[in-house]
Amino acid sequence: MSDHPPSSGRRRALGRGLALGAGLVLAPAGHRVFAADAPRGSAAAELVTRPIPATGERLPVIGIGTSRRFDVGPSEAERAPLRTVLRELPRGGGRVVDTAASYGTAETVIGDLLAELGNREAIFLATKVGAGSAGAAAGRAEMEESLRRLRTPRVDLLMVHNLAGIDAMLPVLREWKAAGRIRYLGMSTSFDGQYDEFVAVMRREDLDFIQVDYALDNRSAEERILPLAAERGMAVLTNLPFGRGRVLQALRGQPIPDWAAALGIASWAQFALKFVVSHPAVTVAIPGTARPEYLVDNLAAGRAPLPDEATRRRMAAVLARR
Ligand SMILES: NC(=O)c1ccc[n+]([C@@H]2O[C@H](COP(=O)([O-])OP(=O)(O)OC[C@H]3O[C@@H](n4cnc5c(N)ncnc54)[C@H](OP(=O)(O)O)[C@@H]3O)[C@@H](O)[C@H]2O)c1
Repeated sequence: MSDHPPSSGRRRALGRGLALGAGLVLAPAGHRVFAADAPRGSAAAELVTRPIPATGERLPVIGIGTSRRFDVGPSEAERAPLRTVLRELPRGGGRVVDTAASYGTAETVIGDLLAELGNREAIFLATKVGAGSAGAAAGRAEMEESLRRLRTPRVDLLMVHNLAGIDAMLPVLREWKAAGRIRYLGMSTSFDGQYDEFVAVMRREDLDFIQVDYALDNRSAEERILPLAAERGMAVLTNLPFGRGRVLQALRGQPIPDWAAALGIASWAQFALKFVVSHPAVTVAIPGTARPEYLVDNLAAGRAPLPDEATRRRMAAVLARR
């Protein structure tokens, strides 16, 4: 269950994994997602997980983001692919679902579909509060609404969205954590213009998680935020790992370098994600994933091997050279 530390059986299984430093462990592969048509290299490779520094609980390095594409109505045509994504995510070894109160109907859709599927406990559910910019009372009301819409008494992670009302909201998040209504707390951004304030808050506050934008062509977070997260013991979710699709558009039509095959990379999406999750400070990447075929593709990037530092530099150079 996502509300508890790993079971002793799971701990034993992880204990048999291969420790690789930087908190990286290769756990035995779990279920197969669409095993028959899984991308090359994904079915047999080991699932990569990273620890949340605050507790040691491990998360698989690929999750999903839900902005825009999960903002749909009640029709079966719109919801069917999203249901498949939420069903197959944990079956394929993934766990983190990132959403926000401000993503239109996304929280409602996720809540409905997890209730239908009965797999809430297999998901690490992360959401965000933005209404705190109008004061703590407004923030609290939005958090209550999130739990109602997500149909859960407790979310795994609640973040202050884009620093909105950060000073008013962190005490509220701490109160909710103490009451068991959230398991972890943090904050998010995706704007360079917020980085100075983001860094200042990271320095003065104890946070379990931060969330920041990081991609092959958007590496500003490497300068201060990712090293500081490692130093301060904060888990990191990385949003916009494809730059809202920009990275994949830039690479489309180019052949994937031969040397990438040694990393089990069979698509540009896997190339982009393996770059992101191989940064030692990154815990989980959350690519926007609303199509089942994208889920299969993206989850394959969460399987060993990951690139080393020299290969990461080579990967970044591919985009710079285009
Ligand atoms: N400040 C914040 O807190 C903040 C800000 C931004 C984002 N976020 C979070 O981060 C998540 C990710 O950001 P994002 O969704 O905006 O951008 P993204 O993950 O960088 O890119 C999503 C785009 O990539 C495409 N895609 C996904 N998997 C693919 C694959 N395997 N092959 C080809 N294309 C693929 C999607 O295509 P389709 O359009 O066809 O589906 C979508 O257009 C959000 O969903 C949200 O949860 C948080």
